[in-house]
Amino acid sequence: MNATVPETMTAIRIAQPGGPQVLESFTRNVPHAGEGEILIAVAAAGVNRPDVFQRMGLYPPPPGAPEEPGLEVAGRVAKVGRNVERFRVGDPVCALVAGGGYAEYAVVDASNALPVPQGLSWVEAAGLPETYFTVWHNVFERGRLTPGETFLVHGGASGIGTTAIQLAHAFGARVLATAGSPEKCRLCEELGAARAINYLTEDYVAAVKEATDRRGADLILDMVGGDYIERNYEAAAVDGRIVQIAFLNGSRADVDFNRLMRKRLTHTGSTLRPQPLEAKARIARGLHEKVWPLLESGKVRPIVHATFPLEQAADAHKLMDSGQYAGKIILVTKAGSD
Ligand SMILES: NC(=O)c1ccc[n+]([C@@H]2O[C@H](COP(=O)([O-])OP(=O)(O)OC[C@H]3O[C@@H](n4cnc5c(N)ncnc54)[C@H](OP(=O)(O)O)[C@@H]3O)[C@@H](O)[C@H]2O)c1
Repeated sequence: MNATVPETMTAIRIAQPGGPQVLESFTRNVPHAGEGEILIAVAAAGVNRPDVFQRMGLYPPPPGAPEEPGLEVAGRVAKVGRNVERFRVGDPVCALVAGGGYAEYAVVDASNALPVPQGLSWVEAAGLPETYFTVWHNVFERGRLTPGETFLVHGGASGIGTTAIQLAHAFGARVLATAGSPEKCRLCEELGAARAINYLTEDYVAAVKEATDRRGADLILDMVGGDYIERNYEAAAVDGRIVQIAFLNGSRADVDFNRLMRKRLTHTGSTLRPQPLEAKARIARGLHEKVWPLLESGKVRPIVHATFPLEQAADAHKLMDSGQYAGKIILVTKAGSD
């Protein structure tokens, strides 16, 4: 049985590439749930850095994806398409969407949705998919982090960073993190980092060497790039792995690769959004089995910095542009504030 769904809804679009003010509210048709898909009545939607890059015209949606921004949502299932067994109308879910998450309704393949972990609010659940899928895939699947290893995460106070610290710590790794202020460093240590390094006042390579008896980090999750590429090779342990998920300081660098060879390093990376549905479904299954119990027991928790009404998406982006936050920024729809 399907719930009553209006024909139109409020959503946010990018009027033209530019600053936060280009995000505008408009009315559009509610999308249709096709075969294998569910329609979600969105209660809350996460804001992510890739949305900012898309707003600036630097990260176009992959072919077939909605043009509108928004990569993660939480809300109740409003309709189920044909051949969906896992969910029923009314179920509380959170999901990774290919776009269009800044809206009152969003469609997603059922395999890319997960039940809201028990005890979590809509706002907390909306902040899970993009960061948890990314961290699970890059730290545990691609980076192969194992208990007892030393893990270094850059941007430790970001949405990705706060998730990576908690999960790596919960799975028995020793965590080191970099962040850009004493408050952000404190947050990283509260979340489980053995040592947080203020990258603005300390040389992180020296700090990692000191914290590991000069061994270096077994795995590094990097979103900075630029001169960090060569410095990560220095900070890595022999046989270490470096996983690249962004290049905030640029994707071109003058690098001496000698260290990569001598230390037998593996340097890899990935982006989540263009991966096929089946790959994301596999990540979702891993999260459901291994990580959802940690969220439900309170061992790990989403860190939410601020919420904004959906219509004020531009203000949410202003905050993200300012960098003056730690953890996630979330948009709340009327359904989510009832
Ligand atoms: N590849 C993928 O699949 C994928 C998926 C999702 C996100 N991402 C990327 O992952 C990154 C984090 O995402 P998010 O949404 O959590 O973003 P975010 O909150 O914008 O985080 C960016 C972080 O980068 C840190 N940073 C910036 N310049 C730095 C520098 N020079 N040295 C050290 N740290 C620096 C900032 O640290 P301070 O605030 O402490 O200064 C901030 O915590 C973004 O770049 C995003 O595009 C990639």
